[in-house]
Amino acid sequence: MSAGKRIALVTGANKGIGFAIVRGLCKALGDRGTVYLAARNEQLGQQSVAELKTEENLHSEFIQLDVTDRKSIEKARDAIVERHGGLDILVNNAGMAFKHDATESFGQQAEVTMATNFFGLSDVCDVMFPILRSHARVVNVSSCLGNVNTITSATIKARVISDDLTVDELKTIMSDFVSAAKRDTQKAYIKEVGFPTSAYGMSKIGVTALSSIQQRQLDQDRSRTDIVVNAIHPGYVDTDLTSHKGSRTIDEGAVSSIYAALLPEKTDIRGQYVSCNSQVEDWRKGVQRTA
Ligand SMILES: NC(=O)c1ccc[n+]([C@@H]2O[C@H](COP(=O)([O-])OP(=O)(O)OC[C@H]3O[C@@H](n4cnc5c(N)ncnc54)[C@H](OP(=O)(O)O)[C@@H]3O)[C@@H](O)[C@H]2O)c1
Repeated sequence: MSAGKRIALVTGANKGIGFAIVRGLCKALGDRGTVYLAARNEQLGQQSVAELKTEENLHSEFIQLDVTDRKSIEKARDAIVERHGGLDILVNNAGMAFKHDATESFGQQAEVTMATNFFGLSDVCDVMFPILRSHARVVNVSSCLGNVNTITSATIKARVISDDLTVDELKTIMSDFVSAAKRDTQKAYIKEVGFPTSAYGMSKIGVTALSSIQQRQLDQDRSRTDIVVNAIHPGYVDTDLTSHKGSRTIDEGAVSSIYAALLPEKTDIRGQYVSCNSQVEDWRKGVQRTA
């Protein structure tokens, strides 16, 4: 790893699992790192930075970043480059899910969910990847609900799990899902096409597949040294997103992200899907739902 301070950025970190990832990285890196707690809402982000300081004497830095706002991502990148020259750890944690009793149509839910969980994450990567330094670690927070077996179309599933899938192709599949979701509220068309009936699940399938492609692309680029991307799932965690029904604490939910963020030099764990127990799972065969 680089001899200087390691610079880490965690998106969606004002609460929940992201907050616990910042806490864990602050403890692990100590004076050898600077951890940016990114939040879309400045007040909430600043409050969380202050909470870590006053309650645990941990020092993090606030940075504003809304994953659906490209300008805010670029502004955060420019600030990090100006202050540190580059980035060593990127944890793409920001995400959302509609509640079961949400009144928005399935099409609307699909559009917003995909824009945040998949396209937002992808935009953060597009902007931040050029500033990743040698040995950087990227963690894309996926979910065990992003199970490829929920894709009932053999053709779509084969493309999503194929070794030569491109980012553009994956984006088209995700956009096709949103278009299909807008066709009817009863999900009849989406079932007919063979897509999953969960927009959240489909967005997380996208995150896992994207991580695999990103690693392949980085491995082919000889100018990048030992940059590693993995998708993780945190388990079923007690947060606002799960209406606090999850059984794991936020610190337990942060374990696999912290593990993947701190993987040592020349690790074999690259382009993988890492479980909440920090075990590599074969996402292409479909992951057992544990949460
Ligand atoms: N909890 C689980 O059991 C579970 C299981 C599998 C995967 N996950 C994944 O874990 C990640 C964290 O979820 P969580 O459970 O900790 O949920 P959470 O407590 O609701 O936290 C979600 C975080 O994402 C932020 N966020 C949402 N939209 C954003 C945007 N457009 N730009 C920037 N930040 C945004 C939220 O900010 P605001 O406070 O401003 O809304 C919040 O900080 C998500 O990717 C989620 O899909 C969670």
